[in-house]
Amino acid sequence: MIFKQHLFFMLYSACGLVIKEAATKNKVKGSQGQVPITQNVTVVEGGTANMTCRVDYNDNTSLQWSNPAQQTLFFGDKKALRDNRIELVHASWKELTISIHEVTLSDEGQYTCSLFTMPVKTSKAYLTVLGVPEKPEITGFTKPALEGDHVTLTCTTSGSKPAADIRWFRNDKEIPGATEVNATGRSFTVRSTLEFQVDRSEDGVAYTCSVDHVALLAAPQQVTEVLEVHYAPRVEILNSLIFPQEGQYFKLECDSIGNPLPEPVLWTKDGGELPDMERMIVEGRELIITSLNKTDNGTYRCEASNSLGTDIAEYKLFVYDPNALAQHGPDHALIGGVVAVVVFITLCFIIVLGRYLARHKGTYLTNEAKGAEDAPDADTAIINAEGNHAHAEEKKEYFI
Ligand SMILES: *[C@@H]1O[C@H](CO)[C@@H](O)[C@H](O)[C@H]1NC(C)=O
Ligand SMILES: *[C@@H]1O[C@H](CO)[C@@H](O)[C@H](O)[C@H]1NC(C)=O
Ligand SMILES: *[C@@H]1O[C@H](CO)[C@@H](O)[C@H](O)[C@H]1NC(C)=O
Ligand SMILES: *[C@@H]1O[C@H](CO)[C@@H](O)[C@H](O)[C@H]1NC(C)=O
Ligand SMILES: *[C@@H]1O[C@H](CO)[C@@H](O)[C@H](O)[C@H]1NC(C)=O
Ligand SMILES: *[C@@H]1O[C@H](CO)[C@@H](O)[C@H](O)[C@H]1NC(C)=O
Repeated sequence: MIFKQHLFFMLYSACGLVIKEAATKNKVKGSQGQVPITQNVTVVEGGTANMTCRVDYNDNTSLQWSNPAQQTLFFGDKKALRDNRIELVHASWKELTISIHEVTLSDEGQYTCSLFTMPVKTSKAYLTVLGVPEKPEITGFTKPALEGDHVTLTCTTSGSKPAADIRWFRNDKEIPGATEVNATGRSFTVRSTLEFQVDRSEDGVAYTCSVDHVALLAAPQQVTEVLEVHYAPRVEILNSLIFPQEGQYFKLECDSIGNPLPEPVLWTKDGGELPDMERMIVEGRELIITSLNKTDNGTYRCEASNSLGTDIAEYKLFVYDPNALAQHGPDHALIGGVVAVVVFITLCFIIVLGRYLARHKGTYLTNEAKGAEDAPDADTAIINAEGNHAHAEEKKEYFI
């Protein structure tokens, strides 16, 4: 009986050992590669995502892909979910690859590849879907804006994921805007505003809103608006001659700016109509007097108007008598006189300076001469000849 029991125990132990060994073997096999391997995938919405699951070592165990909602998409090569965007790319014992077409933001999430060993081994792959920002829109443009108006330009783009970047450019130079991001569903709405007061220098300035995003591979999305500013006229009169003389051709130009452009301009003389339409011709913004007459002097006025206002400029014409201008000669004579006096004084100064220098030079040379009996050059000879010898001797003594 005891022997029998013993035998049974021995058998039991041997069996257990075998079972144990088998289990250990299995474990080793598993750790050697029976693990599915996946990779995260990023795709732009509307594109195709390929989800690949691989097993390096596989003893013919089935692979399965399931979506973030834990629904089985493919079990081996068998399609499990009715979604015609999802297709099988490749199925083998070592790989299961499926593709999801026309990906939407709602496809994003964690997908699972399962290997049906005991226990089941899984690997997660995160599918990231990038939302493409819609073409931006600029609002807040009043066309036209009036000078002094406060303008708020708003650029909005929706549908981006992650949130897009908005940048502003004023005539191609970047300027800062105030950006605000709101989540709308799975994507983002990004808005950036610019606030400023318009003046006439803003007329014709181009404002560009540029949207940068990872999903925009080629170039940023841009929209440009050109500001139109209306402003009141400003006029200025330009004259063709400084001293208009009788008989001369004379032209006054009314330089007017304003938006809308104030045209035509109105010319008047001394508060009334132009007196002589024969000699006075108005051409566009110019007033031309073909031949000046003394009777033409007076105040000429140019008036320009647009919807925002009126501006006036005046010019006082004095027609000089060519003979009287000759009397203006004294002006020139005076200038001439002043120049003459200045020249005279300068000359006097030069002469005085010259004489002073010459005297010094003479003294120096005389001193030199005391060493050498003979004059070293003609100059010295002349000086020596001029000054009497007694004087030279005197100097010699004085210096010794
Ligand atoms: C997905 O797989 C298909 C079929 O193999 C291939 O044509 C396509 O280029 C792949 N797409 C990506 C994004 O890898
Ligand atoms: C897997 O299955 C194939 C046939 O489908 C067979 O030839 C192969 O021996 C099997 N491999 C293993 C490890 O069971
Ligand atoms: C995959 O994506 C998830 C979620 O974004 C992240 O936690 C994980 O580290 C990523 N894995 C790899 C290998 O990049
Ligand atoms: C974001 O949300 C706030 C509060 O709901 C709203 O006032 C604002 O206009 C929104 N901004 C955008 C860019 O949608
Ligand atoms: C100026 O006008 C007066 C009157 O119209 C005329 O008598 C005179 O000859 C004119 N002078 C010149 C220089 O044209
Ligand atoms: C011409 O100008 C002079 C000087 O300003 C003035 O005395 C004279 O009255 C003017 N003549 C006319 C016709 O306007």
